[in-house]
Amino acid sequence: MREIPAHSIRIAETPEDVARCMQIRKEVFIDEQGYDIKVETNDDDHRSTHFLLVLSDNEEPVGTIRLINENNQLGRFAILKQYRGMGLGIPLIQALHDYVRGKGGKEVWCQSQAGDPTKGGADATGFYKRLGYVDRGERYMKEGTVHQDMVYTLQT
Ligand SMILES: CC(C)(COP(=O)(O)OP(=O)(O)OC[C@H]1O[C@@H](n2cnc3c(N)ncnc32)[C@H](O)[C@@H]1OP(=O)(O)O)[C@@H](O)C(=O)NCCC(=O)NCCS
Repeated sequence: MREIPAHSIRIAETPEDVARCMQIRKEVFIDEQGYDIKVETNDDDHRSTHFLLVLSDNEEPVGTIRLINENNQLGRFAILKQYRGMGLGIPLIQALHDYVRGKGGKEVWCQSQAGDPTKGGADATGFYKRLGYVDRGERYMKEGTVHQDMVYTLQT
């Protein structure tokens, strides 16, 4: 069985932790995926809860995810490239699930990237499906990429 690197997950409550989340997003969405900074950071950040995953060994920040509080939409979910496929994404999204459940939320949803990887797009729908997310509605274009709304019912 795969061993997930030792890590901890916390809500970014200090300016320093929020900056750590933003740095991960910059590396993944702007430097790697080519999004415009004006699209990547937006007003939703001010009304969101940001989660930060750090490695236990050296406190290196390697993952982040954002929850828009008013509508339980998750997004800006990113693990640094060199740490993907190690099983770190699952506990990070589950921490967000636990947080919403703790506030009495019944579901979370996201606008998953659903681009064709053979044409240079990113497709995260497979990740969400594995966790039990289901499609809601049709695919659509947003910020130059194909997206799919996906929803997850939180178990009580
Ligand atoms: C999406 C993302 C956060 C997942 O993080 P991760 O650390 O690689 O995920 P994990 O290692 O926890 O993966 C858990 C399982 O999901 C699978 N998985 C991961 N990404 C997947 C994808 N895009 N499609 C299908 N399965 C995927 C893994 O293979 C793994 O399966 P396994 O348990 O059988 O080995 C990461 O791939 C990422 O940062 N991508 C770039 C940014 C991005 O596109 N974010 C999503 C925006 S909607």
